[in-house]
Amino acid sequence: MDLKKYIANVPDFPEEGIIFRDISPLMADGEAYRYATNEIVQYAKNKGVDMIVGPEARGFIVGCPVAYELGIGFAPARKKGKLPRDTVEVNYGLEYGNDVLQIHKDAIKPGQKVLVCDDLLATGGTIAATVKLIEQLGGEVVGMAFLVELTDLNGRDKIKGYDILALMEY
Ligand code: PRP
Ligand code: ADE
Repeated sequence: MDLKKYIANVPDFPEEGIIFRDISPLMADGEAYRYATNEIVQYAKNKGVDMIVGPEARGFIVGCPVAYELGIGFAPARKKGKLPRDTVEVNYGLEYGNDVLQIHKDAIKPGQKVLVCDDLLATGGTIAATVKLIEQLGGEVVGMAFLVELTDLNGRDKIKGYDILALMEY
C-alpha cells in the first residue's frame, strides 16, 4: 500500500521552515491505519517483543494498537507532570524546542524486550530520550518503529546500534 497518500504535508507549521508531516489522514482511514499497524506487528513478532513504549502523544496512536494486537502491555512515556506516580526523567531536544520526558518507575521490568513506537523520527531527540528511560529501568530496546522518517535530520545518528523500522521516508 502507498502510505504516503495518507500523509498531509503542511508547510510552515508549527513554525516557518518546517514541513509538518501530518499522519491524521492515515489514522482516519481504517484500511491504511490497519495496514501500517500490521507492518509493525510483524516486525515486533520477529523481534520477540514483550512490551511496547510510546512517547506522548503520537507514539500512543502508533504503539497502542500494536500492543493490543500482540496481547502485550503498553507503557506511556509522557511530558513532565502528567504521570501520577514515581517516575524517572530525561531532558531532550526537538526539531522545534525542547522538553522533559518521564516514565513510571515500574513501567518496565528488568530484562523485558521493548519495542519503541512513534509516528515520526526527526532529530531523534524524542526517541533517544525514550530509550534512556527504558534502559534506566533495565529494559532492553530490541527495536524501534516509526511511520515516517525525515532522513535529512539524521535522527539515526542519535540511536546508533539500534534496529529501526520506518514505513515511509522523506
Ligand atoms: C513529535 C513526534 C515525535 C517527535 C519527533 O512529537 O510525534 O515524537 O516530535 O521529533 P524528534 O525526532 O526531533 O524528537 P512532539 O514532541 O511534537 O509531540 P506530540 O506527539 O505530543 O505532538
Ligand atoms: N515532529 C518533529 N518534526 C516533525 C515534522 N516535521 N512533522 C511532524 N511531526 C514532527
